[in-house]
Amino acid sequence: MIKILFVCLGNICRSPMAEFIFKDIVKTKNLEKNFLVDSAATSDYNEKNMNSIYSEAKAVLDKNNIPFFDRVARQMKKSDYDKYDYILTMEDENIKNIMKIIGVDDKNKVFKLLDFTEKPRDIIDPWYYGDFDATYNDIKYGCEKLLEYILNEYVN
Ligand code: 4NP
Repeated sequence: MIKILFVCLGNICRSPMAEFIFKDIVKTKNLEKNFLVDSAATSDYNEKNMNSIYSEAKAVLDKNNIPFFDRVARQMKKSDYDKYDYILTMEDENIKNIMKIIGVDDKNKVFKLLDFTEKPRDIIDPWYYGDFDATYNDIKYGCEKLLEYILNEYVN
């Protein structure tokens, strides 16, 4: 079982989108039994306020026929670092904040999602910048490349 945690600032836009997009990709490929997939926030704000996935993130998942269920945001815990094999963030700022939670990435588990593409870069926050379609496309492409990378790792 390969365990994957997607992490963003709020856990109501990008990381839940990545969670459900990745789940859909592995389901389509009949690989779902091989993966445990979850998402989390670096901040505690949306967990404290029991916020679920933001409506515009849900709308873009719906539009692209990605199944999802309503989930309440949760903040990443130090124990998640031991539990998960890959921790996929959206931007450099997420990595800085994760380090405050985990201390040190001594097992090299923390990456940015787009590190697995030919053009590594941040996935900007649609909560502040608004373009949920662009965010969807970045996340979808990153998830496809991530799966390719993981499958290669396990075959080789
Ligand atoms: P996300 O976007 O990190 O992609 O989930 C955000 C959503 C909410 C907040 C920040 C970022 N917020 O501060 O509530």
